[in-house]
Formats: sequence, structure tokens, C-alpha cells
Amino acid sequence: MSSSPPRHEYDRVAVVGGSVIGLACAWALARSGAVAEVVVHEPDDSGPDGVPTGGAAWVAGGMLAPFSEAWPGEESVFALGVASVRRWPGFLRELEPHRPGGPMIRSAAHTHMLAVDEADARDLELAMTWAAGNDIVVEGGVTDADLRRVTRRELRAAEPSLARVARAAYRMDSEGAVDNRVLLRALARACRAEGVRWARGVVPSLDDVEADRVVLAAGGGSAALAGLPVRPVKGEVLRLLARPGCEEPPRGVVRAFVRGRPLYLVPRDGGIVVGATQYEHGDDRQVTVGGVRDLLADAETVFPGIGEYELAEMIAGLRPVSPDNLPILGPATEGGDPRVVYATGHGRNGIALTPVTAATVVADVLGRPAPPAAAAARPGRLARG
Ligand code: GLY
Repeated sequence: MSSSPPRHEYDRVAVVGGSVIGLACAWALARSGAVAEVVVHEPDDSGPDGVPTGGAAWVAGGMLAPFSEAWPGEESVFALGVASVRRWPGFLRELEPHRPGGPMIRSAAHTHMLAVDEADARDLELAMTWAAGNDIVVEGGVTDADLRRVTRRELRAAEPSLARVARAAYRMDSEGAVDNRVLLRALARACRAEGVRWARGVVPSLDDVEADRVVLAAGGGSAALAGLPVRPVKGEVLRLLARPGCEEPPRGVVRAFVRGRPLYLVPRDGGIVVGATQYEHGDDRQVTVGGVRDLLADAETVFPGIGEYELAEMIAGLRPVSPDNLPILGPATEGGDPRVVYATGHGRNGIALTPVTAATVVADVLGRPAPPAAAAARPGRLARG
């Protein structure tokens, strides 16, 4: 008996942008079985396994952080972030077999968030009280495992290498971090295993892309390609490596408000990622003396052992930020190219929002129900006054 060939809903789907969002969408589309050919359009293959190093995902801290990024008034950003973080364990399970040798994709399993002075403590209490509030509707609700206040003694027991500077501290057990570079490589390898193809040229216009459907995952490039309101917000990050005799890196992610400035220390493969500054400087990727000085000063306030580390890398990236800090997810609105689905504008949260974005894009391309939390991120909101 001859078996009939698979029936595909589309001959070809193109994904424009081959960083974390584009790769995750391409992988999910290829695995859906509904597309004969998935092509990723990404000119930058400068990293290992051909991943791009010019985008925000290569620079990122890799935190899965809806709780410690929570801020009053950003209900939809928070709800979408929680929906995505709830998907991360399953996403990781499926991706881990594609990891190259070396470090695991997940680099931390929990987060502590602390405040150094009285004003920092007020900001932290405000944000955490808001995040834990019952009036915020998130998938599964917010539990103690997501977010709970800890005493200074509990903080010291959990992270003994921190300075005793915390006025207030919270612990997030459901909020870890991934190694962004291992993640990118694993996604590229997972895509290859599913037969995804790369087209390495620059895409000057979406009109030039030959495909039945086009997923626009070009981050900051989405403004020029589709006229979307996505602007670059610069962030500087330092990568430190432990040297013999150094204080051990923190056991989990440590985040802090230090004299009003947000800071994170993310344990990463025998070292620490320190981030991040935030400036609106247009297309500026240079690392500044002032940025490095502030990051090191704030990091040393929280983790005094940092001075013994090797300063291995200083790097700046551009976060693709939308006007309301929500990504832009969904089919192009009226007047746009009906082939196009947007997956862009993820701002500070591209890595955290990767699983929910991929699920939304597959649903949109295949005409199936999307995750409910994505409703607030639909492109139509940008047109309304
Ligand atoms: N996700 C943290 C940052 O953008 O700095």
C-alpha cells in the first residue's frame, strides 16, 4: 500500500530575522507539519552555528523575568510575560536535545531582587505589591513561588557572597535565566534538524520575499521594513569571568535597584553577566566609559567580590522597543501586506517572551486560536488614538 505524501497548508513560509524570535518561530512552524518549506532570511551569520551576533539577543542577560520586571500600569506586559514564563520549562525540555556541548541552556533557576537605599526600597515595594496583587489577571495566578518577600537573614543564607546592603528583598522561584548564546545556537540547530533553510542576503523590502506567508521578526529592522513604531533603546552589558580564588558567582540571578539604577547579575558559565544601562541614543552601539563605570560601581555595591573577576567582554545592544512596551504580534492590519505576521518590538523581554511569541505566530499563520495573553499585543492597538 503506498503512503500518500504529507498535505501542507503552505508551500513556503519566510521568517525575516534569524535571531531568537525568528529562530523560535521558524522552528515552531517547521514542527507544525503544515508548511513544506520554512526559510529564515538573516544576513548575519557571524556567531557559532551561524547565529547572528549583531542583535539584542546576543547581548542579553537572558532573564525570564516577568516578576522582577513588573511595573504598575503595565498589566498586559506582565500578563504576557507570565504566560511565556509558564511555557519555558516545556520549551526548554524540547530544545535541550539540540544544545551544542558545554553549558546548559538554563543558567539560573531563581532570582533575588533587592533594594539598597530607602527610595530604592519604596520603588521595590511598590512594584512587588502591585505584581502580587489579586486584581492582576495572569495565567495560574501569582503564587508565593513566583514572588515572596524574604528577610535579610534568608537573603544571606541564599546568597552569602552579597554585601549586607539590602533594605528590602524578594525571591522569585519561578524566574530563572538562560544562557542567551547557548539558546541561540540550540535554536539554530533545532531549526536545521527540522529542515529549515537560510537565505543569507539582506531583505530590502518585504515585497521581495517570495513566500505564501511572511513572519516579520526583524527587531529594530521592523521599523524600516514595515513602518512599525519600534525604536532602538541602547543597553550596555559586561561579561565577567571568575579567576582562581575569586568569590563564587551568585547562585541565582540577583537584581537590584542601586541609587535608583536597575542592575542585574546573572550567573553564566563560570562567570557573571552584569547589566544593563538603558539610553535612547538612536543607533549607537558603542560602549561608554560612563556606562561601564556605573555598572561596575553598582555591581560592586551589591557583590563586593567582583573586583577580582576578569572583565572579559563589554558589549552594547539595541533593544527594539514599542511605544507601550508590549511586542507587536499578529497579522498586519488593514492596508498592510496580508501575507505578513508581525513578531517584533519585544523591548527588554525578547528572550522571556520567545515561547509565547512562537506559539502566537504559529496560531496566526495557521488560523488557530492564539494564547489569550497575546490579545493585548495585537498590532491593531497601535492604530487606535
Ligand atoms: N532584559 C534586560 C535588559 O533588557 O536589560
